[in-house]
Amino acid sequence: MTDTEDLKRRAAVRALEEVRSGMVLGLGSGSTVAHFLDVLGTALAEGALTDLAGVPTSVHTAREAERLGIPLITLAEHPSLDLTVDGADEVTPDLDLIKGMGGALLREKMVAQASRRLVIIGDERKAVTRLGTVSSLPVEVVDWEWQGHVDYLEQRGAHVIVRTSDGGVPFKSDNGNLILDCRFEGGIDDPRTLDDELHHRAGVVETGLFLGLAAQAILAGTDGLRVIRRNP
Ligand code: 5RP
Repeated sequence: MTDTEDLKRRAAVRALEEVRSGMVLGLGSGSTVAHFLDVLGTALAEGALTDLAGVPTSVHTAREAERLGIPLITLAEHPSLDLTVDGADEVTPDLDLIKGMGGALLREKMVAQASRRLVIIGDERKAVTRLGTVSSLPVEVVDWEWQGHVDYLEQRGAHVIVRTSDGGVPFKSDNGNLILDCRFEGGIDDPRTLDDELHHRAGVVETGLFLGLAAQAILAGTDGLRVIRRNP
């Protein structure tokens, strides 16, 4: 395992301590969450945890959870979740996030909003003081007349790239939408205003700005684990 994978796994192992038997979980997406699914599946197989079910935030996570013997459930069956464990692309000291580099932002936000607690896991590279300084901001849009959103975002200072899959074809999210990756030179000045504006724009499905949603972040560095908690 590479050093970075080892750090991701340490954060995942620490997050497992937040899980209790009988919980209904939100299961995030991404390479760090893959470690969490692995340790969760092992805990279930060994009987250390029982009576769990999870709502997956992507088709990939659903497949992995099935493979690992983690029972799945839907939000329709269980609209309120005890705990969601997910990754992030950026985490500020106030627990604002950028998410969605894996393309699962819409389902991730729906699951996060349905959860009593959202716990973020990652390695220390995800820690930033200002959103948009390390990661692009993913914005999910319907593919009808998407070019207008590029102009709109560029007027707000973004350099926009339409996400592509291997082979150069446009990437489609699990919901069949396009992702616009928006790079803001020097970071995003006012994430809340930008998020509000984008949510008022027809054709924009969701943004990767997760503001005020996370309760806790577990970030693993070479000198140990750092746990950031939201002030009550
Ligand atoms: C997917 C996400 C991921 O949680 C985020 O991109 C972090 O992924 P990784 O753990 O692979 O760095 O938001 O949409």
